Amino acid sequence: MSEPLLEVRNLCKSFGALVVADEVSLALRPGARHALIGPNGAGKTTLVNLITGTVEPSGGVILLGGHDVTRWSQARRVKHGLARTFQINTLFRGLSVLENVCMAISERRAVAAKLWQRADARADVIAEGMELLESVKLDGDARRLVRELPYGRQRLVELAIALGLRPTVLLLDEPAAGVPSAESHVLLEAVEALPESMAVLMIEHDMDIVFRFAQRVTVLVQGAILTEGAPAEVGGDPRVQEVYLGENAELHGGRR
Ligand SMILES: Nc1ncnc2c1ncn2[C@@H]1O[C@H](COP(=O)(O)OP(=O)(O)OP(=O)(O)O)[C@@H](O)[C@H]1O
Ligand SMILES: [Mg+2]
Repeated sequence: MSEPLLEVRNLCKSFGALVVADEVSLALRPGARHALIGPNGAGKTTLVNLITGTVEPSGGVILLGGHDVTRWSQARRVKHGLARTFQINTLFRGLSVLENVCMAISERRAVAAKLWQRADARADVIAEGMELLESVKLDGDARRLVRELPYGRQRLVELAIALGLRPTVLLLDEPAAGVPSAESHVLLEAVEALPESMAVLMIEHDMDIVFRFAQRVTVLVQGAILTEGAPAEVGGDPRVQEVYLGENAELHGGRR
């Protein structure tokens, strides 16, 4: 079996008395399609924040491509192949779709300031940006301002920005949250079309989406892993059903 692209071992974090990561361990190998589920407040977003370096763990280790990145800055982790999308919209809404994506590409090329002084390099970035937008079927919206797009397409721009960083590990925090079901299929298709070798971790409440996307599912409850397994196995686990039924019956039809 290939080595994990991302591995977390015994990760711990508390906010005051609230334990949000309790010895969490997880590994994503190349090609992983892994869903992270759990009730509201379980610590799912916090786990992503720990992995990306927005939040500092109180214990445990994070490995990226075999390197211990636990104390690395967020930017350094991005350069080593880690990208994420956010649960909250974080786009430059007054700029065009293409401009948003080109900023991410320039960032990755790490010579943003110098690069933009050179017309040929600029043309290169724009060409890559257009190619990327085509791959997520946003090329028709390239020149539109982000704020003019329907919400579902704005979330697609977030995905395109993350992809502009050319990640090997992609963390998606509820990519379809707030997107009307008529639009969410476009997002899911884009996720399904991601390069096969990429390792993808997706936080998702809607079990229909989880079953469609994931090969593995981890269930987080109060910061601790309740179980991990194949989707059918996890979905049929009485303990998992109990957790969800106790919450809001999301296992039965997902969030509306
Ligand atoms: N910076 C912070 N300081 C203090 N408490 C926090 C902080 N960030 C998150 N929390 C708390 O930690 C708990 C876990 O939050 P987190 O956002 O990780 O949950 P989640 O599983 O992503 O939930 P949801 O499904 O609602 O997105 C929550 O009770 C939250 O209020
Ligand atoms: Mg969350």
